Amino acid sequence: MSQMITVLGATGSIGVSTLDVIAGHPERFKVFALSGNRQFQRLAQQCITHRPRYAVVIDAQIADQLRALLEASNCLTQVLCGEQALIDIASDSEVDTVMAAIVGGAGLRSTLAAVQSGKKVLLANKEALVMAGALFMDAVAHSGTTLLPIDSEHNAIFQCLPQAYSNADRGGVSKLILSASGGPFRGWDLPQMTPVTPPQACAHPKWDMGAKISVDSATLMNKGLEIIEAQWLFKIPASQIDVVVHPQSVVHSMVQFVDGSVLAQLGNPDMRTPIAHALAWPERMSSGVGDLDFVALSRLDFEDPVIDNFPCLGLAYGVTEAGKDAAIVMNAANEVAVQAFLDLRIGFTQIADVVEYALNASCFNEPQSLADVEHTDKRARAMTSHRVTQLER
Ligand SMILES: NC(=O)c1ccc[n+]([C@@H]2O[C@H](COP(=O)([O-])OP(=O)(O)OC[C@H]3O[C@@H](n4cnc5c(N)ncnc54)[C@H](OP(=O)(O)O)[C@@H]3O)[C@@H](O)[C@H]2O)c1
Repeated sequence: MSQMITVLGATGSIGVSTLDVIAGHPERFKVFALSGNRQFQRLAQQCITHRPRYAVVIDAQIADQLRALLEASNCLTQVLCGEQALIDIASDSEVDTVMAAIVGGAGLRSTLAAVQSGKKVLLANKEALVMAGALFMDAVAHSGTTLLPIDSEHNAIFQCLPQAYSNADRGGVSKLILSASGGPFRGWDLPQMTPVTPPQACAHPKWDMGAKISVDSATLMNKGLEIIEAQWLFKIPASQIDVVVHPQSVVHSMVQFVDGSVLAQLGNPDMRTPIAHALAWPERMSSGVGDLDFVALSRLDFEDPVIDNFPCLGLAYGVTEAGKDAAIVMNAANEVAVQAFLDLRIGFTQIADVVEYALNASCFNEPQSLADVEHTDKRARAMTSHRVTQLER
């Protein structure tokens, strides 16, 4: 029987890679629904190729433009719009698997809906887990869903953990070691980074990704978000999660055991590997990624991150200590600040300043519900937007 799949965020970097892997295995997967936001022409092309039952966008005018393109191509995909439609395609009873690849807090509700309805969830949308970790993991436990990490680091750790690993029995694991490429500004100091432009920040040396995660990789906020993501996914405190900069991005992450052993997962830096791993799990299938050439690679380098030059990573460590809803504030402030940087409203190094401002101006409370999460998120976004406007003057 083939798996029915919904791809949330199909038009993005992860979405495109997912559809590429799926196209290589037509006997295993059928596309039930695809979603996009602004790139309706790309979404139309994906619908013509994959013939999903539904395509979802948020905006009604974009939905009309998409409908027109599909009708002109005699494509029978039905176009829906709005956030409820995202939730519907994530939780439809015919769906087996959901790739959650919307970027940012915009993906929270649909990703959570997929978890609550017991789908196999392939989690790329790390921001959802950072914002609502406790609610999210409670929903995973309650629905019995299979949650598989797509982030290459967390997917690597998932592959290296012992089968016996659980909350009660860590199976001899003493710590997790997250790899960080170091981004385009590895080795730079803050004054050097002050004038950098969005194209420079998005030019990641190893990974081809969407704009937001590319900027997060350049500030190392991405690693901060990943520490919080790892805390929730693997139920381990931040004190047992190390970060090591590894510029070749071949060792995707490692697990350290009490007996001195370290297990690592290696591969070429191509997101189709973790995507194929999660799609086929617990089996394996081809991803289209070539074999790693160790001789051509010849060396692997590792170094400590320089937190003074990447203050976002320091802020994230602070957030793991503060707990409560500090991660929601940090995530929201970061999303607003990154967008302001991409829109040329603030400078690159001001991203950290703005996030720090939002954290310092907030009192933290334990969120009890999704409404609490969304309230804190909204408040932090408003506060950060105001700060960005002040800095622009
Ligand atoms: N790219 C990677 O290699 C990578 C690796 C690890 C984890 N991730 C995580 O995966 C997620 C996606 O990353 P990405 O690089 O694929 O991002 P991306 O290329 O920017 O794609 C984001 C997707 O979300 C859609 N989207 C944007 N805003 C939306 C909104 N308000 N409502 C609904 N949909 C919206 C976009 O639609 P349009 O494009 O049509 O506007 C697109 O389909 C992020 O959480 C990221 O941290 C990515």
